[in-house]
Amino acid sequence: LIMPSGHPEVSPMTAPKKLYIKTYGCQMNVYDSERMAEAMGAEGYVTTDKAEEADMVLLNTCHIREKASEKLYSDLGRLRPLKIEKPDLKIGVAGCVAQAEGAEILRRMPLVDLVVGPQSYHRLPAMARAAEAGEKPVDTDFPAEDKFDHLPDRPSASTRPAAFLTVQEGCDKFCAFCVVPYTRGAEVSRPVARLLEEARGLAAQGVREITLLGQNVNAYHGEGPDGTWGLARLLRELAKIDGLARLRYTTSHPNDMDDDLIAAHGELPELMPYLHLPVQSGSDRILKAMNRKHTAEAYLRLIARIRAARPDILLSSDFIVGFPGETDRDFEDTLDLIRAVGFGAAYSFKYSARPGTPAAEKPEIDSAVADARLQTLQALITEQQRAVQTAM
Ligand code: SAH
Ligand code: SF4
Ligand code: F3S
Repeated sequence: LIMPSGHPEVSPMTAPKKLYIKTYGCQMNVYDSERMAEAMGAEGYVTTDKAEEADMVLLNTCHIREKASEKLYSDLGRLRPLKIEKPDLKIGVAGCVAQAEGAEILRRMPLVDLVVGPQSYHRLPAMARAAEAGEKPVDTDFPAEDKFDHLPDRPSASTRPAAFLTVQEGCDKFCAFCVVPYTRGAEVSRPVARLLEEARGLAAQGVREITLLGQNVNAYHGEGPDGTWGLARLLRELAKIDGLARLRYTTSHPNDMDDDLIAAHGELPELMPYLHLPVQSGSDRILKAMNRKHTAEAYLRLIARIRAARPDILLSSDFIVGFPGETDRDFEDTLDLIRAVGFGAAYSFKYSARPGTPAAEKPEIDSAVADARLQTLQALITEQQRAVQTAM
């Protein structure tokens, strides 16, 4: 739930309209919700944390797993009595389910007034006006223009010490299980100058820690003043900004962990000794079926190089258990990899077949077996996490 401060230009004589935003999914959605609230702020909306007093409810959704996706429909069902009580209430669906299902959401849930995808939310204010005029706009374009060029400047008053900054969006990797390349589109990196400007603005507001975001953040390759910059160079430049004490980035792909970025972990005191580097599985057979394009061994070698650069670095990963075709042996390989690395934390998920992805065509493994594997894996991670915490 995002609550940036009210827009300063709203006259106290006219009661401002209220916007309630619920955010699901990853940090990229958290960032997008802030930017949408700011865009609506320029239209005279202030945010509220109470759906009951809102003039507009915006659900910023996630499509990554079936459970995440279905939450939208149960929450919409829960909003029905409110919409009956307040017929002028506008309900908008944003984010990755909006992108994946588009107008289908309006058919399934007629109480929805607008649907906006993650690449076109700079058009949200105009869509909200159209919705107020009785239309039901749907926008799931991947527009040619950069939405960030069409969003209002970030507001100047902030009391928060830490902020997100999206530097890269989309993904070209097409892991066999994943919807992100379809919902977020192709990989795009924001230009260096715009990011430095936004980061300086955040630092001037008192922000001390910035987490750089991207679905594949370490694949960042943005236009700089003298050619293309990688993530390491961007981090080095951000570290020079007065007041910025800490930098983080998430989430990364093992194949994009280049020498320069590994070196930056050893050189930059501002770069926190933490790296989220999802491996998904420890079985080469499954990694191949997942289209991950790296082996377990390559991942372990990479971890060794990162630890050589920054020995106290804390590592975390994502794991999927029960991918189609996963055997006991494959799962044992995953446990072996976890034992070999020693993670400080991890996010682990039972495989969820997603419409339109290649893996969804394959027969699923027994659901109870996948549940049991997930519990075993999580118990091992918890053990490792406790050990790391005790050592602190
Ligand atoms: N770009 C990131 C991942 C984004 S999605 C990366 O490549 O690491 C976050 C995590 O959700 C993934 O790492 C994966 O572990 C999990 N995930 C994605 N699709 C899934 C699916 N169909 N079923 C279960 N978990 C999934
Ligand atoms: Fe999804 Fe793979 Fe891209 Fe990560 S790298 S967003 S898991 S397709
Ligand atoms: Fe979910 Fe979209 Fe993020 S599917 S994980 S909100 S990129």
